[in-house]
Amino acid sequence: MSLAAVILAAGKGTRMKSDLPKVMHKVCGRPMIEYVLDAVRGAGAEEIVVVAGFGGDLVARTVRDRAQVVYQHQQLGTAHALLQAAPLLAGFPGTILVACGDTPLVTAGTLARLAAAHAAAGARATVLTACLEDPTGYGRVIRDKGGRVQKIVEQRDATPGELAVREVNTGIYCFSAPGLFDALSAIKSENAQGEHYLTDIIGHYVQQGEPVAALKVEDAREVEGVNDRRQLARVESYLRRQIVEELMLSGVTVMDPATTFIDRDVKIGRDTVIYPFTIIEGDTIIGKHCIIGPGSRLINVQAGEGVVIEHSVILESKIGDNCTIGPFAYIRPGCVLAPDVKVGDFVELKKTVVGRGSKIPHLSYMGDATVGSGVNIGAGTITCNYDGEKKWPTIIGDGAFIGSNTNLVAPVEVGEKAFIGAGSTITKNVPPGALGIERGRQRNIENWLQKKSKKESCAGD
Ligand code: UD1
Ligand code: CA
Repeated sequence: MSLAAVILAAGKGTRMKSDLPKVMHKVCGRPMIEYVLDAVRGAGAEEIVVVAGFGGDLVARTVRDRAQVVYQHQQLGTAHALLQAAPLLAGFPGTILVACGDTPLVTAGTLARLAAAHAAAGARATVLTACLEDPTGYGRVIRDKGGRVQKIVEQRDATPGELAVREVNTGIYCFSAPGLFDALSAIKSENAQGEHYLTDIIGHYVQQGEPVAALKVEDAREVEGVNDRRQLARVESYLRRQIVEELMLSGVTVMDPATTFIDRDVKIGRDTVIYPFTIIEGDTIIGKHCIIGPGSRLINVQAGEGVVIEHSVILESKIGDNCTIGPFAYIRPGCVLAPDVKVGDFVELKKTVVGRGSKIPHLSYMGDATVGSGVNIGAGTITCNYDGEKKWPTIIGDGAFIGSNTNLVAPVEVGEKAFIGAGSTITKNVPPGALGIERGRQRNIENWLQKKSKKESCAGD
């Protein structure tokens, strides 16, 4: 059976009250439409068409390597939206699976079952339905006494009797392609919204005596549509829970799933422990035997094995095996830490490369720096990397020892195994093995207390 899919994604999503097209709102780090794309592809769709409209260029950019895009310039309803795919699918002989871009939890398995049910029934149209405790907002599936689907009625057009029906239209259907687009062009817009409803095609086919079938989804949560931000949050929390459960089943300890937020594309190795209040986003990859959190946020981070990160924020950086980070470190984009590095409390790093086994234990800022291996950076060391106009590099050689409270005024280089005296402001390169020290000599005045009190008593005379 050949299967094509059309994803309806042109609507503005008025109820989202947003400048962003609805299907671009993210659920667990990915735009909703990407989940639907994956699901239809997973169900075996060979050809995929996305109908874009409001914010269409953004939608097109997101999906263009995975689908063909057509535009619905005016949002005249779901039937009109599907009709826009006609030029691409007019001659298509098989089944057309239609899904909405705002139903991100639907699975490939469910879509494949729908396509199989459609084929088995030999139907013109098969609608995926769901029985909901609270069907408010959804189109109701109206059946006759024999249980045969008669039509779908939208909430706003339904009679009180129809509103009591709890079986709803999920907005997901299979249609036999031949004749579909002709039937769609005949759909009128005589309803409360003045739109061309795709749902009307069901009643239309029934009246024509064409076979129409329905399949009930096993898990109704899969087909929750996102129309406003409350539903967005519900879908997010459901998927978040699912992601965390998959991770737990794969060998990751998540101490408190309720306060752990992990994006869909994150990968985490076995025996890693995630403490509460931790957010792991984007394409982050974490190795085995790590301890992450509590209270950490990682975005697009690659962390090796045995890494410990506590109460820290790490963005777009690479963390080598057995590094320890935090508490309260801030690692900004572009950092690369070799294995066994320690970045301690209240340390900020930006575009900084740190060699194996080096330590930056407390209260430091390293920006645009290259730190060798086995380096010790004393508390309060600051790279002065910005002169008000440009950023400059700092290079610190292997085995160097930087005393506490050093200012490294970039561009500057500290050679291998060099020492810097605490409190120095280093503006000139320090050769390998040298001691660089820059501070006023200390002077001690003996018996200062006695001299002081003598002076005071004289003044009183
Ligand atoms: C739709 C169904 C409803 C079903 C519900 C399931 C219709 C008329 N109603 O209602 O029976 O219970 O989905 O979630 O189909 N779209 C376009 N162009 C348009 C209008 C909409 O592409 O002109 C797209 C939207 O971007 C969205 C999808 O179609 O992805 C559904 O539109 P939406 O306005 O959310 O319909 P619902 O009111 O949810
Ligand atoms: Ca919807």
